[in-house]
Amino acid sequence: MKKIIANFKMNKTNSEIKEYIMKLLPKFEQGKVDLVLCVPFTALTISKFLLADSGINLGAQNICDEDDGKSTGEISGTMIKNCGADYVIVGHSERRVKFKENGRIINKKIKLALKNRLKVVLCIGESLAEKNTLKTNEVLKAQLEEALKGLYENELDNIIIAYEPVWAIGTGKTPLVKELENTIKVIRKVVTDDFSPKAGEKIEILYGGSVDLKNCGTFCKIKNINGMLIGGASLDADNFSQIIKNIK
Ligand code: 13P
Repeated sequence: MKKIIANFKMNKTNSEIKEYIMKLLPKFEQGKVDLVLCVPFTALTISKFLLADSGINLGAQNICDEDDGKSTGEISGTMIKNCGADYVIVGHSERRVKFKENGRIINKKIKLALKNRLKVVLCIGESLAEKNTLKTNEVLKAQLEEALKGLYENELDNIIIAYEPVWAIGTGKTPLVKELENTIKVIRKVVTDDFSPKAGEKIEILYGGSVDLKNCGTFCKIKNINGMLIGGASLDADNFSQIIKNIK
């Protein structure tokens, strides 16, 4: 079953989320896709309530890299779990760039998420400059190795890798199918080399970056890709329901 994760980013008030979920629920068929909605922190509790018994999972978009109470304005893994979320996005390029999150911070966040029994959606991806200078494979390997440092192989069962080329996010540009297939192979090889062939084969890998109603079928057909992480095209409930329908 394909995994589809919506990343609402910094969009939607609680009343907008309520309206969205009420529109989505009647159109959602359980057991066809594995759906996760990553909503803003402010909407976790109401979303959990509205999604009860729907089969749709809930995720947060960030987690604090500290576990103490001395981080004003931050949200801990314990708090996220307590709001009813089971997933958390870590290492999104918007956070790497705007909030200067480096590999060490991302590694700390992953460990705290796992400690709180949250599944991690680990985002990795190269910038346009890195792509143009043929550094993609090197960049992805470094991002993966920094993020997964010190993890046990069995912990990878709770890690989902989302390959999101920075140049594809919100731009309408996407990699060619061949390019994407090769990149996913590279990611699996890093996991194979650092953990085991079984881990490299088993780890879930999603594609993200300008996925929409028109191209979702193409990405879905790529063997090796377990699903998609969708930003802009997930924000309209009717459009997103149509994407889900096309995918299953
Ligand atoms: P878009 O689907 O809007 O390109 O965003 C992708 C993304 O950043 C999801 O995390």
